[in-house]
Amino acid sequence: MADWISWTPYYSVHVEQIDDQHRELLKRFNDLLEAMWDGKGKEAVGSSLQFLADYTIYHFGAEKHLMIQHDYPNYGTHKSIHDGFVKEVREFLAKCATEDVGTGVVVGVAIKLGDWVRDHIRRMDVQFGEFLKSRL
Ligand SMILES: [Fe+2]
Repeated sequence: MADWISWTPYYSVHVEQIDDQHRELLKRFNDLLEAMWDGKGKEAVGSSLQFLADYTIYHFGAEKHLMIQHDYPNYGTHKSIHDGFVKEVREFLAKCATEDVGTGVVVGVAIKLGDWVRDHIRRMDVQFGEFLKSRL
């Protein structure tokens, strides 16, 4: 099946390590959407969602580490945007764990989060990539 959210060079931040992680992140969005599309059970969808959340946290941590290491001037803003996103994801995971959330809602949220990530890569990570490239 065609990817729903694919990485293309349009999303490149021109730093290999970050591009590789963005590829993996978008792949996990696809896996989640595919699990829902294929009508996989609640458990499979839940674990895809958790898998995606775990990687998002890992990836933001890696970006944070690079920002601190290279004294990125926009670190504060970028980090608080990451934190806001993680909070939203965590709240949604908690909701899924305690309430009977329908597939349609999960699809809607996953697409919204995926759009957020793509927009964030283009708007903020590309800027960070430019800075980083000038430092590496
Ligand atoms: Fe970022």
